[in-house]
Amino acid sequence: MSLWEALPSVAVVGGQSSGKSSVLESIVGRDFLPRGSGIVTRRPLVLQLHKTESGAEYAEFLHAPKRRFTDFAAVRKEISDETDRITGKTKQISNIPIHLSIYSPNVVNLTLIDLPGLTKVAVEGQSDSIVEDIENMVRSYVEKPNCIILAITPANQDIATSDAIKLAREVDPSGERTFGVLTKLDLMDKGTNATEVLEGRAYRLQHPWVGIVNRSQADINKNVDMIIARRKEREYFETSPDYGHLASRMGSEYLAKLLSQHLELVIRQRIPSIIAMINKTIDELNAELDRIGRPVAADGGAQLYMILELCRAFDRVFKEHLD
Ligand code: GDP
Ligand code: NA
Ligand code: MG
Repeated sequence: MSLWEALPSVAVVGGQSSGKSSVLESIVGRDFLPRGSGIVTRRPLVLQLHKTESGAEYAEFLHAPKRRFTDFAAVRKEISDETDRITGKTKQISNIPIHLSIYSPNVVNLTLIDLPGLTKVAVEGQSDSIVEDIENMVRSYVEKPNCIILAITPANQDIATSDAIKLAREVDPSGERTFGVLTKLDLMDKGTNATEVLEGRAYRLQHPWVGIVNRSQADINKNVDMIIARRKEREYFETSPDYGHLASRMGSEYLAKLLSQHLELVIRQRIPSIIAMINKTIDELNAELDRIGRPVAADGGAQLYMILELCRAFDRVFKEHLD
């Protein structure tokens, strides 16, 4: 197991077009994910955020390691092209993940996972087993005990039938790693609101629900940027007759803050086992060195290098979260 696997990850779960990619994007604070009203996310996207000390900001794909992306619009295009490389321009889904790393001074070391939407029925061009296939794929990510689940539920649909909540309850019955995110508050029928849920009176979860207003399809078409979108979202809550009293606990920025507090807690709890893991790996390496004899063979050298990297990464995370 690598350090990255030992650290928590955050995955979005929810129905088709519930706003998963939009929420993930606003947590990262960058426009780089394909979004839209159709079946846009068709392969899992495993996104590693790496904090850089140098101030450098760029992205790299595992499938194109020599190419450094500094233009985030090009990152979005590459995600979309790489999706099509496996699935074609179809409505099919593939469980082969796309691995993307973003290096930036403005992130914390963390893995985020964007997933295809859960569906109820196969549409034209999809296999009959697609409903189960997607559910199994999503479950394989969120059943891991170190996966934090963002259960994305659109406010303009019946929350009682939320696929996100159903799956989250199944893999995390105590709800300790599930965050309910209510999107599309702006699209609710006039005369209705979600205060029952947002005030914690209905569909109560262990962690409080966070209401979100992402960019609409019209905003996406007009290329409304993230800063403007966040400002509009803040204004929405602050001026809302329904949610004004909850404004300080709503919105994308608050969700990002809530998540980072939770991550810090989880990492603090996990530090002893991470140290144990590193010690164990070092012990294994030493045993291996004793067996094959020193000096280090080529393989052992690579392993040692990996462990040094692991220690360095651990050190960084440790400093970030405990200083
Ligand atoms: P995903 O399929 O779950 O990843 O959802 P996307 O993030 O791709 O969004 C699907 C569609 O819903 C896009 O057209 C978005 O603009 C729209 N959308 C998502 N969240 C909201 C929201 O809070 N309000 C409005 N008005 N539209 C939203
Ligand atoms: Na979509
Ligand atoms: Mg998506």
